[in-house]
Amino acid sequence: MRTIDELEVSGKRVLVRLDLNVPLRGAEITDDGKIRACLPTLTALLTRGAAVIACSHLGRPSGAPDPRYTLAPVSARLAELLDRPVRFASDTVGRAGQATAADIQPGQVALLENLRFNPGETSKDDAERGRFADQLAALADVYVGDGFGAVHRRHASVYDVAFRLPHAAGYLIEAETAALSQLTGDVRRPYVVVLGGAKIADKLSVVDALVSRADRVLIGGAMASTFLAAQGYSVGASLVEGNLDAARGYLAKAAASGVDLVLPLDLATAPEPSADSPEHVVAATSIPAGQQALDIGPETQDLFASKLADAQTIFWNGPLGVFEIPKFAEGTLAVATAIAASPGFTVVGGGDTAAAVRSLGFGDTDFSHISTGGGASLEFLEGKTLPGLAALESAQP
Ligand code: 3PG
Repeated sequence: MRTIDELEVSGKRVLVRLDLNVPLRGAEITDDGKIRACLPTLTALLTRGAAVIACSHLGRPSGAPDPRYTLAPVSARLAELLDRPVRFASDTVGRAGQATAADIQPGQVALLENLRFNPGETSKDDAERGRFADQLAALADVYVGDGFGAVHRRHASVYDVAFRLPHAAGYLIEAETAALSQLTGDVRRPYVVVLGGAKIADKLSVVDALVSRADRVLIGGAMASTFLAAQGYSVGASLVEGNLDAARGYLAKAAASGVDLVLPLDLATAPEPSADSPEHVVAATSIPAGQQALDIGPETQDLFASKLADAQTIFWNGPLGVFEIPKFAEGTLAVATAIAASPGFTVVGGGDTAAAVRSLGFGDTDFSHISTGGGASLEFLEGKTLPGLAALESAQP
């Protein structure tokens, strides 16, 4: 994969695909880690005299403009962090995007509006995606892929556009792939994987892949309810997603291969994920009707900490509970504390997980690597071909 050090950028218009999909509360950015992670690439390109046209998705809008998912607040934060103006284009390939791309000068930076406001970005139809990629490519002379968190998506700006322009990977993709590669070869054992968080349907198959590599897989967060439901336990009003037959298959595979697949013993529940909803600690095998599992309970926290204590390699993806509400952050805090104390090689993966550990007071020095990619890092570990990386590895057009 060619990196930006080998790409001629001086005086060129450079389209840079970033992952600026940051957590928001209204228009407030609650964690700007993904924006900070782009700065080395953007700074290098600007210093070398590139006219930078940055682009990203935010959330999952349905292919049409939706003010809830505007990148405008991200543009303002990027300008603060870069300490220079960022020109915000109110569309991508429409009049505003085209005018911005035409005007932008070497050493200046622009950010296009959310790519997913255009149905061509995520289309399953190659021709429709290709048309959007043609329009994006027309804005620039060269393309840089640096949105690691989106490289598992076969989307126009991640995949198709790289085949249309001279291209290279940015420093974030370089750093992420270097760190995560250390988990794909021979790892020091015990190798313990902790999985939690939402986007369960996306992650379920990862359990299958990791069961054959890890010594222990600890499951918490919303994913745990799916596995508990698959075993026939009552999970009350907890979030259950994905294919329960598949979940049963993974449990059977883990048992057959001697992998320690650990589910919660107890859970903190409440009728609603809100600060004033009354909390109970219940056995994980009998969540009462009307109660939602919102965190792992104290016994499970101790159990998970003991399973992490002697680990030599740890990969953690997904908060163990609704960490945004302090009383449901205890499980995530206990696991973060256990992993931060580990002398092994530790990787924390995913935008939500990274945001969770930072909001709980942990930083870069507490772990070997904090990945900006959730789904992307999981699919990388599964050994899947990631479209965004394959495109960057493809021959130059
Ligand atoms: C992420 O937050 O994991 C990335 O930004 C990808 O987002 P997506 O799952 O909506 O494609």
